[in-house]
Amino acid sequence: MIIDTDPGVDDAFAIALAATSPAIDLLAVSAVYGNVTLAGTTANALRVLAATGRADVPVLVGAERPLVHPQPHRASHVHGADGLSGRAGTLPEPGRAAEPGDGVARLAALLHATERPVTLAAIGPLTNVALLLAAHPSVRPKIDRLVVMGGGLDGGNVTAAAEFNVWSDPEAAHRVLAEEDVPTVLVPLDLTHRCAVDAGWLDRLAESGPLGAALVGLTPSYRENYRRMLGIDGMVLHDAVALAEAVRPGILRTEPMPLSVECSFGPGRGAVLPDRRPARVREAAGRTGRPVDVAVDVDLAVLREFLLDRL
Ligand code: BDR
Ligand code: CA
Repeated sequence: MIIDTDPGVDDAFAIALAATSPAIDLLAVSAVYGNVTLAGTTANALRVLAATGRADVPVLVGAERPLVHPQPHRASHVHGADGLSGRAGTLPEPGRAAEPGDGVARLAALLHATERPVTLAAIGPLTNVALLLAAHPSVRPKIDRLVVMGGGLDGGNVTAAAEFNVWSDPEAAHRVLAEEDVPTVLVPLDLTHRCAVDAGWLDRLAESGPLGAALVGLTPSYRENYRRMLGIDGMVLHDAVALAEAVRPGILRTEPMPLSVECSFGPGRGAVLPDRRPARVREAAGRTGRPVDVAVDVDLAVLREFLLDRL
């Protein structure tokens, strides 16, 4: 597995899930700008891996801005100025640097070198993934599955229409979700909001050991921001829900849908548009523009126990 990420409080949970899962061979974590600057997300990826005892996993440095249009603002109002609720300093010092050079080229080299199919979990803006597929198309067969956290079929969180990861780089998201031919699962807001965990779940995680305590220590202001902004009383684990599907394929129930992303400049910019017409779903299957498997449902009790058990 490779994780492309912009840590981010929920990204920290997601990275920890893969880093501690015995069945997962985590080849690399690549950083992308997003919740905070690229320098911030890179530093946070190193710290989260240090907290999981995985200093062996290389951290690659990807894109510092969207493909075409600059991103107007970051998500520090959700994740804090440092991306980890002002608590990055509570995680261990990594004692190492990220890998030098172009992270996207390094991703391509890793994929070319591996004999086994790779799951690519993309839990930030899709800029690195779009660059990878555009500049290194020969890696496509090496990607067994692309699991993306992004989009909201029934509305967004940054704007009425757009979810943060897609809104950050709609042109990249359109390329990845609508024009590429890699088997893809999209885990949208509609589902991740329903998967929030409660204070009892967080208490159990905090009591489980140092890693659990460190992760839960990142959550208080993030939870408070969600309560204030969206009225959600609980910890929304967006990216960790996507990683659950990446680690255990099939834990989420999916439906195939052709998707496109609104790239015009108006109130709909960054919206993900599913085409649910049955004839279009059938037509699109097996061709470029194939449907994406969109996660629509989950057994919440199974998911919450799985996450707790692994973390
Ligand atoms: C997504 O946006 C980021 O703030 C989170 O880390 C997650 O990837 C949710 O919209
Ligand atoms: Ca993220």
